[in-house]
Amino acid sequence: MAVKKEARLRGRFKEDIDAAAQRFVASVPFDWRLYKYDIEGGVVHAEMLAKQRIISRQEFEKIKAGLRDILAEIDSGKFKFKLELEDVHMNIESRLFELIGDTAGKLHTARSRNDQVALDMRLFAREAAGTVIQALQAINTRLVDMAGKNIKVVMPGYTHLQQAQPVLFSHYLMAYFEMFSRDIARFESCLKRINVLPLGSGALAGLPYPVDREFVAKRLGFDSVSANSMDAVSDRDFVLEFESAAAIAMMHLSRMAEDVIIWSTREFGFIDIGDAYATSSSIMPQKKNPDAAELVRGKAGRVYGHLVGMLTVMKGLPLTYNRDLQEDKEGFFDTFDTLVPCIEMMSGLMASLKINAARMKYSMQSYILATDLADYLVNKGLSFREAHAVVSRMVSYAIDNNKELNELEIKEYKGFCERFEGDVRSITLQKSVEARTSQGGTATDEVKKSIEKAREIIRGY
Ligand code: ARG
Repeated sequence: MAVKKEARLRGRFKEDIDAAAQRFVASVPFDWRLYKYDIEGGVVHAEMLAKQRIISRQEFEKIKAGLRDILAEIDSGKFKFKLELEDVHMNIESRLFELIGDTAGKLHTARSRNDQVALDMRLFAREAAGTVIQALQAINTRLVDMAGKNIKVVMPGYTHLQQAQPVLFSHYLMAYFEMFSRDIARFESCLKRINVLPLGSGALAGLPYPVDREFVAKRLGFDSVSANSMDAVSDRDFVLEFESAAAIAMMHLSRMAEDVIIWSTREFGFIDIGDAYATSSSIMPQKKNPDAAELVRGKAGRVYGHLVGMLTVMKGLPLTYNRDLQEDKEGFFDTFDTLVPCIEMMSGLMASLKINAARMKYSMQSYILATDLADYLVNKGLSFREAHAVVSRMVSYAIDNNKELNELEIKEYKGFCERFEGDVRSITLQKSVEARTSQGGTATDEVKKSIEKAREIIRGY
């Protein structure tokens, strides 16, 4: 079935576009959300054209007023996006014709949709990265606050999800502060490459007009202008970088979510999720489910998917612009729309936790101090490997005799190694923690130092 012809897009064709083909190529169902950036870019572009005497001052004023009206129409929900106009760019231009007549035709002088869409995406990405960074800073602020308040809580640290060594719960929280700090750095670094102006590249080859790209860059807050027009219209590295930084951040959030899920089980009982962040079962009245955390964990999948999807779209694309690039949008928008709520959800959920310090302590068997026993023997002159072998035999003996390590008699200790003395009794969970004074270790003073440093960083946010 053929539909009404849209003159500005169909100039050279004798036939109208097939309705299904029209729906298929249209991007307006999702790229409409670029309108703010499209209009902002249009106004500055027209201002530059006037400054360079490519169009007149009056023409610029007319275009600017028209674009401002369109912005207000879209903001207030009055604007009707039309599928037959294909994308956000043509929808806005077409409405500009309705509002100001033929002068609207001058706006597209020295501009192609190829550099225009690259500009819109970069403006969107710039704001999106800023929003992500703010959300990450907020969760970091919360984690540091929690770490400060829970400095006395000792929990079992795990490797292979087996009890390994006691650590401060605050040390655990600060581990995530480090991860999110790296995420922030990744988005900040990505911002540098986002913030390059592609407009002024034309369709691919540059422009035969005396444009002033530096002026446009300055007005739109870009740090620099792109150096190569062919690269500028076909580059989506900034989308890939954003998606990759997002994928890593989602991985961090997912791990944190997993800890929360495990620790809130009856078997662990280390934490209780605030009722406001828990869900119930429709059939089992006793249930308190960590659905929010599970969804954070689950949503990591789609964010990874968008990264791989876009890498695959880009791979093998001949230079320069190809319509395949339109596929950058939905994945990018969804990455942003997924990541920010996940950060906010984990932040709220963490703050809602009731920490069961007694349960954490109770869960630790004496075996968790086995490394400390080995370290004790090292202090008495054994090599670490010898000490490790002695304590391994003790652990095996204790297990066989259904005893905790600290239930063994001193003479039993001596049976394994002559160097054991009565002071071996002074090895406790807290002492084990406090012994780990190496830089970045879990000793209270070290963790307090890291919290202090973090507070300094947070003041700089
Ligand atoms: N909707 C297109 C996109 O997102 C806009 C650019 C179209 N350019 C073109 N030459 N067909 O990539």
